[in-house]
Amino acid sequence: MCGIVGYVGKQQASTVVVDGLRRLEYRGYDSAGVAIVANGAIETRKKAGKLTNLEAEIIQTPLTPSHTAIGHTRWATHGAPNDVNAHPHVSEDGTIAVIHNGIIENFAYLRDELLASGVTLRSETDTEIVAHLLAAQMPASGNLADALRAVCQRLTGAFTLVAVQADTPDLVVAARRNSPLVVGRGNGENFLASDVAAFIAHTRQAIELGQDQIVEITPTSIVVTDFFGQPVDVTEYEVTWDASAAEKNGYDLFMLKEIAEQPKAVADTLIGRIDTDGKVKLDGLNLSDEYLQGIDKIIITACGTAYNSGLIAKYAIEHWTRVPCEVELASEFRYRDPILDASTLVIAISQSGETMDTLMAMRYAREQGAKVLAICNSNGSTIPRESDSVIYTIAGPEVAVASTKAFLTQIVACYLFAMYLAQVRGTAYGQPNEQIALELGRMSAKVDLVLDTSEGVRAIAKEFVNSPSVLFIGRSVGFPVALEGALKLKELAYMHAEGFAAGELKHGPIALLEDGVPVFVIVPPLGDELHDKIVSNIQEVRARGARTIVLAEEGDESINEFAHHIIRLPKCPALLQPLVSVVPLQVFACEMATVKGFDVDQPRNLAKSVTVE
Ligand code: AGP
Repeated sequence: MCGIVGYVGKQQASTVVVDGLRRLEYRGYDSAGVAIVANGAIETRKKAGKLTNLEAEIIQTPLTPSHTAIGHTRWATHGAPNDVNAHPHVSEDGTIAVIHNGIIENFAYLRDELLASGVTLRSETDTEIVAHLLAAQMPASGNLADALRAVCQRLTGAFTLVAVQADTPDLVVAARRNSPLVVGRGNGENFLASDVAAFIAHTRQAIELGQDQIVEITPTSIVVTDFFGQPVDVTEYEVTWDASAAEKNGYDLFMLKEIAEQPKAVADTLIGRIDTDGKVKLDGLNLSDEYLQGIDKIIITACGTAYNSGLIAKYAIEHWTRVPCEVELASEFRYRDPILDASTLVIAISQSGETMDTLMAMRYAREQGAKVLAICNSNGSTIPRESDSVIYTIAGPEVAVASTKAFLTQIVACYLFAMYLAQVRGTAYGQPNEQIALELGRMSAKVDLVLDTSEGVRAIAKEFVNSPSVLFIGRSVGFPVALEGALKLKELAYMHAEGFAAGELKHGPIALLEDGVPVFVIVPPLGDELHDKIVSNIQEVRARGARTIVLAEEGDESINEFAHHIIRLPKCPALLQPLVSVVPLQVFACEMATVKGFDVDQPRNLAKSVTVE
């Protein structure tokens, strides 16, 4: 996803902007650029590839000192990732520069209009047309902010646009529709960015812009209106984590740091939410007991890892509350004519809170009359802001593209909600909330314990570095864990990997087995009704030559004779086991990518948050 930074103030603007872009690198990109305003002119430098290429360009051809700049890291949608298509894009007369995050859906129509008027386009991007439209609008509007308001009224799609003008230094204007944009309020300086990480080193005072809003920043002012110039109320908040939290703190990789932070993330997500007698308290849930007693269905919608956390949550929600729970891929949900109404609660799970597929799915759900509860890790982001209710996960910033600590805290947050729902509806089927709460409170220490298996897991990864494929099998909540283990390996090590419900093997996938194929098996706790069935599955795959890597709890000797490798898990209830069983699979994928020499924190083709459909 693209990264955006804007700056006006007393510092060297291009330096502030490029430093800010570096803090957004985790979002994934393929080119970068910067524009400054100085001496009545716009200067731009932009290069394909990593930020280091842009920095080299600036050293080779220095920019004029300036106090006004915008910068961009591009994740290509329209047009190849090359120097010409990199942002910023400039109007033909050179007086306006624009950067953009999102997709302008009526781009082709507007492009044809510009071509018919004699404009010469230099790039293949949708963004460039905005620079030309702004220049054409300036005579009628008289200033950049009004010109941007007028142009935005003509655009459809998702766009965060940031623009500067040659003869108005100390001013950056921006527009926001669907793609994220946050303002940083400094002392004699102000910032714009896609994510607070870009300016957290300078200020923690932030303002999240809402849908269809325009902001004008100068060194001493921040003015926010709608697309028609009407002032709008905005909420200012203080960013609770500091710049170091978004740094590696001594780890070689953000992913390693974030795997290690999981015990704290689980503990932090529980803080203040379970009282001493096991009652769950979800302050600010904003869903009345009467409403929760009246719902007759829950639909969880999400993407990727967040979707897998929803698959796990389903088991707990249905077991504890007896409310039917469906789990839907957000990109499929609204196109399958789903059945939902005011009695359906939709839960949108998202680490970034900006995933367009999930955002569009929840908007659809609300149009159908359902309330939406967001489970999110990003304070003030679009999905929670547009939901009826939110439970924040307290994982801290997750920078690595591959989600780890957010995944665990999404499970914890969903379990807390399920326990709360059981409390309100008087079900708590199977066991009292107090018992579940007690067990949940012990999980942080157990996640810490399972991290001790990491060295052994890394050795296993090296053994299978040349395997053409890796399979993962599990039953019940172990099945979504198998899916997540496969997803991690695909996105990090670019290997074929697949997760199956172990009971499905004999219905086809077992044909994949041959000598040496590595198969991870997630074994439920001893005494679980599915335990012996999955031990049989281990024998089935072993008999066909598989190399079995078995995740089983301490003391479970029943699997020893069938396992080539054993990864021991701390004892815990079956429904809570995903919080420990997924960790070795994260470590395995991380190590495999490292051994293969890949970019673990920013895998190819991926972005941290996918803000296009
Ligand atoms: C997970 O490792 C991936 N990075 C990806 O599947 C991610 O979980 C998905 O894109 C959803 O992102 P979100 O949680 O920010 O909505």
